[in-house]
Amino acid sequence: MKEKIQALLQEVQNLTASNKDEVEQLRVKYLSKKGEISQLFLDFKNVAGEEKRVVGQMLNELKNLTQDKLNEMKSVYENQAATSNKIDLSRTESPIEFGTRHPLSIVKNEIIEIFSRLGFTVAEGPEIEDDWHVFGALNFPPEHPARDMQDTFFIEKNPDILLRTHTSSVQSHVMTTQKPPIRVLCPGRVYRNEAISYRAHCFFHQVEGLYIDKNVSFADLKQALLYFAKEMFGEETQIRLRPSYFPFTEPSAEMDISCDLCGGKGCNFCKHTGWVEILGCGMVDPAVLEACGIDSKVYSGYAFGMGVERIANLKFRCKDLRMFSENDLRFLKQFDSAL
Ligand code: DAH
Repeated sequence: MKEKIQALLQEVQNLTASNKDEVEQLRVKYLSKKGEISQLFLDFKNVAGEEKRVVGQMLNELKNLTQDKLNEMKSVYENQAATSNKIDLSRTESPIEFGTRHPLSIVKNEIIEIFSRLGFTVAEGPEIEDDWHVFGALNFPPEHPARDMQDTFFIEKNPDILLRTHTSSVQSHVMTTQKPPIRVLCPGRVYRNEAISYRAHCFFHQVEGLYIDKNVSFADLKQALLYFAKEMFGEETQIRLRPSYFPFTEPSAEMDISCDLCGGKGCNFCKHTGWVEILGCGMVDPAVLEACGIDSKVYSGYAFGMGVERIANLKFRCKDLRMFSENDLRFLKQFDSAL
């Protein structure tokens, strides 16, 4: 019996297998109920009393060694299987085609980049909003005709919930949750119930700006916007502010830039005025500050809001604004070089 155990010890030490199935076959051969080692355990009862201790030890050693050896071989093949699973054999061999950044993202990022040089950071808010954040806090009283300026998509079952019509709603969030000084840009998608045409869509993108601190003046607003216009459209660009009306700003203005197609002389693009409108702006109405819990006797601020599609149109001269949302690669790929 001892010799048999010795021989098996030798044999087990030199075992090899080339895959998981072979390891299993070896387990069956040695350790299964009818396996060679199990058989030896059965024969053990016939070993003479004085030999039992030594032979028992040898048998246990053989069993443990075999078990360890098989486990070791098994783990090699399991690891191999795990790593080979990571290779995706279904992938094509051809090189992956890289996408290009969307023109609206290019323009949005440029707006953010320019204002970040003036200390603005980015704040975001939800697209599905409540009435207070979109209108109430921003000085649109209930039933006020100013609400008709923006054709709103309401949730039928609960008209208090709506799709935001402008990113000014993010102002309400920022002002109620942060203390001045506040200097944020709020980029995002907005929705309006408009008939879709080459110049209007039911969703588009805006970037809102908000600056609140002590002693913020209209001159600060004008300076920031002039800097933006020159950075965005070129050093020779001029701006013009026209009085306007927004419920949340007082005074309010609309800003035009000099038409860079005709250099201000007048062309079809600027409808022969030499100017193109690019944004709305104004001093934050004290009523808005108070509604959001900011002391209007201590703080003042300015705000502005612009359409990203509009700026992109001016930069890229795209005739149909629907192109921005149609995912036509022939259109989208043209902006590669704008990166
Ligand atoms: N929210 C306005 C709109 O969607 C744009 C706007 C105008 C934003 C004036 C402002 C502002 O912050 O001061 O038409």
